[in-house]
Amino acid sequence: MEGVNDSILILDFGSQTTQLIARRIRELGVYTEIIPGDEPLAEHLHEHVRGIILSGSPMSVLDPGSAQPDPVLYEVRVPILGICYGLQRMTHDNGGEVAAAGSREFGRARMRYSEAHPLFEKVPDGFVSWMSHGDSILKPAIGGKVITRSEHGLIACVDYPERGMTGIQFHPEVTHCEHGTRILQNFVFGMCGAHATWSMDEYREQAARDIRAQVGQEPVLLLISGGVDSSVAAALLLEALPPEQVYLMYVDTGMMRAGETEQVSAVLGELGAKHLFVIDASERFLSALAGVADPEEKRRIIGDMFISVQQDEVRTHVPGNYFLAQGTLYTDLIESGKGVGKNAKVIKSHHNVRSPLVEKKRAEGRIVEPLAALYKDEVRELGRALGLPESTVGRHPFPGPGLAVRILGEITAERCDLLRRADAIYIEELRDRGLYSEIWQAFAVLLPIRAVGVAGDAREYGSVLALRAVVSHDGMTADVYAFPPQDLLEISARLTNQVPEIGRVVYDISSKPPATIEWE
Ligand code: XMP
Repeated sequence: MEGVNDSILILDFGSQTTQLIARRIRELGVYTEIIPGDEPLAEHLHEHVRGIILSGSPMSVLDPGSAQPDPVLYEVRVPILGICYGLQRMTHDNGGEVAAAGSREFGRARMRYSEAHPLFEKVPDGFVSWMSHGDSILKPAIGGKVITRSEHGLIACVDYPERGMTGIQFHPEVTHCEHGTRILQNFVFGMCGAHATWSMDEYREQAARDIRAQVGQEPVLLLISGGVDSSVAAALLLEALPPEQVYLMYVDTGMMRAGETEQVSAVLGELGAKHLFVIDASERFLSALAGVADPEEKRRIIGDMFISVQQDEVRTHVPGNYFLAQGTLYTDLIESGKGVGKNAKVIKSHHNVRSPLVEKKRAEGRIVEPLAALYKDEVRELGRALGLPESTVGRHPFPGPGLAVRILGEITAERCDLLRRADAIYIEELRDRGLYSEIWQAFAVLLPIRAVGVAGDAREYGSVLALRAVVSHDGMTADVYAFPPQDLLEISARLTNQVPEIGRVVYDISSKPPATIEWE
């Protein structure tokens, strides 16, 4: 998506936040392109590149095997910003000193300026930055000037004016960094002189052109999960292609939210879908999951079953050699250790990225992933632009494996039913109390334990239900939603009254990290 837009080239050295850098800059209206940090630069340095950013990394520049940029980098004429490892890389590569011992900083650190610099235009002295580094700069390379230090006395920004390079030790891309957006803005507009010409409308038009160019006249199949991502992917496909070419299949696994199947059918009908297949595969899924409690095993079984159901149903309903479309997002790719730096670690196996069928289609070049460059909130913006109703676009995310990852321990039809009833009450309460849209994702989790309670005069063992509600920007990090206590108490009372199997309700107060949003 180069077009005629100014762009910022990002060299990725494997940091978990590289994508955030890209995204923050896109939010400023400037296109970003990410390439592996050690890739030859020549072909990427096209005329629209206005600046280059070097990302952070889990590596240390002191490790001889650590990734190094193409040396051409240090001769280019556009401004360069090094972030964390990027600062250390530019310093180390040019003869400065980087050291490990006794120099770690994690989390908040106040900045103190030694000099003014255009990167900090309108950013007050003493602002709180966000750090995550084990190594530090002991001495800048020749020609380097220290611009800021952290409150711990460590070098936090070095300018190399003769080379057009500036490096910072902290991460302006994370939301916890005060004035982070301003700092990126200062780099992109002030120092690089880029123009804000990139927008979601442009993305939408380009994505539609890309889909048409990729699939030609051939059929495209999209599995609809009921979530925002696949609905937006469906809307995009239906906009890009004649409806006869688009095959939408919704598999009811028996582990969907209450009312999901009906809502999906209605929305896709509105979008003009011609081939919409709603498959009830709940018995197949539940019998394959019988007796399985291990989370990764559940995901594997569900992933395989999706494929097997899909193969059976596709043979019946979809003609010829179809393309497989997916609503994969950046976050899915990052957390499955794909698509970005070699060192990204696998946190959970997201079945929609790793399934053998997807791998096969990918090898054949027959995968269409029109949202793979977007984050959740960007997908919502695109969905609105495509005319999807707010009830779909604003709906909380729902994982591919559905309620399966919210039922800890064995999954049975009864436990699915119990959780579905409880979850529906919880969500209805959030909507009625006007809290739903304040929360990024909320759901109930059925725990594999029973706890004692009293009902009337009798002692009873009931199920334990955990409530989760988080605020987040993109699902990469999340904070606990600070529930007004009265709401939580009333919701808990309604749940135990109306779902008699539940004896106890608890509220999950863990942020991500260290926890994840889902429980499995
Ligand atoms: P975690 O639990 O990893 O979740 O913090 C981050 C976001 O991703 C969703 N999620 C999934 N989505 N397939 C999906 O399509 C999956 O296997 C999956 N696991 C988690 C989760 O609901 C949250 O929005």
